[in-house]
Amino acid sequence: MIDDSINHEYIIRYIRDVLPKCEGLLKELEEFAEANEVPISQPETIKLLETLIRLSGAENILEVGSAIGYSAVRMAGVRGNIKIDTIEINPEAAAYAKRVFERAGLSGRITLHEGNAAEILPRLRDEGRRFDMIFIDASKAQYNNFFEPCFEMLGPGGLLISDNILYKGMTATDELVLHRKRTIVKRLREYVDMLNSHSGIDTAVVPIGDGVALSVKKF
Ligand SMILES: C[S@@+](CC[C@H](N)C(=O)[O-])C[C@H]1O[C@@H](n2cnc3c(N)ncnc32)[C@H](O)[C@@H]1O
Repeated sequence: MIDDSINHEYIIRYIRDVLPKCEGLLKELEEFAEANEVPISQPETIKLLETLIRLSGAENILEVGSAIGYSAVRMAGVRGNIKIDTIEINPEAAAYAKRVFERAGLSGRITLHEGNAAEILPRLRDEGRRFDMIFIDASKAQYNNFFEPCFEMLGPGGLLISDNILYKGMTATDELVLHRKRTIVKRLREYVDMLNSHSGIDTAVVPIGDGVALSVKKF
């Protein structure tokens, strides 16, 4: 299986083969991520993000979990009017991402917040920040804590995208759950249940990449 992904290998291989290849800085980041085991979103998930940004016309985007800045650069590349706030807890990753944004000439459009999203998200909410799209791609055990401030910062019709929601299939079946991952899986299941029962959003769980939940805030 590629990356322990949740779909048949031949499907993933085909989807990745037909995707246009990145060049320059993005290719360098992909190679760096692979060589150093930095977890960046799967190519098909990133393509979905780009497509959703185009489709929705999102301009103000919040990302939880920047890593080395790969997904933020990809999202900012969709249109010149896109502004991104991205949060990263790991100081080394944050420093790397900052240099990447400078090299990409995107420092004016991407703001990096270094620290724990569990603290930064409520702060951004209290500052009255509003976003058209929020991409959560950080510690899976904390998605439940991230949700409330994210929900409040989304405008009507805004899109919340939660990555790795099926977590190598473990969320869907006990048969795959590794003993040491039991708590994370339990929390992810609670999160998926909450997304599906929340009256203020409409959620589709999409089995792409490692599983993505698309939640639209109701008007
Ligand atoms: C999967 S990586 C992000 C990949 C990135 N979105 C991409 O696709 O290029 C997850 C990142 O979230 C960060 N992270 C984990 N928990 C966090 C938290 N509570 N607050 C902020 N960042 C966090 C990790 O340090 C890691 O760099």
